[in-house]
Amino acid sequence: MIGRLNHVAIAVKDIAAAAAVYRDTLGGDVTDAVAQPDHGVTTVFINLPNTKIELLEPLGEGSPIAKFLEKNADGGIHHLCYEVDDIIKARDKLVADGARVLGDGEPKTGAHGKPVLFLHPKDFCGTLLELEEA
Ligand code: CO
Repeated sequence: MIGRLNHVAIAVKDIAAAAAVYRDTLGGDVTDAVAQPDHGVTTVFINLPNTKIELLEPLGEGSPIAKFLEKNADGGIHHLCYEVDDIIKARDKLVADGARVLGDGEPKTGAHGKPVLFLHPKDFCGTLLELEEA
């Protein structure tokens, strides 16, 4: 079911500083920051030949990454995003197998304008997973 690794997401307190590290120190192909108010984050992507890195900074009150950054003051890996061909089919199979989908269980439009879902880390080896329709 799962296909390409779409991105690895890293939560940070200061996205401008993190983007500078990826651009200037690591020499990455870094995009501009984009506010994603529906998701409570600001995002920057680093385009790599085989996948992407997504930097996340909290946006607004009650950001879903605020708690994570309280526990990980220096930032850290927040989730992995796998591509699937059909997100509804994938969700229905996972729910039938007992996996928990976060939120109301319906796909939202993600940072790439495609439907995404998040899956509970306790069901997936302690790692928050995002599924994105390819
Ligand atoms: Co993501």
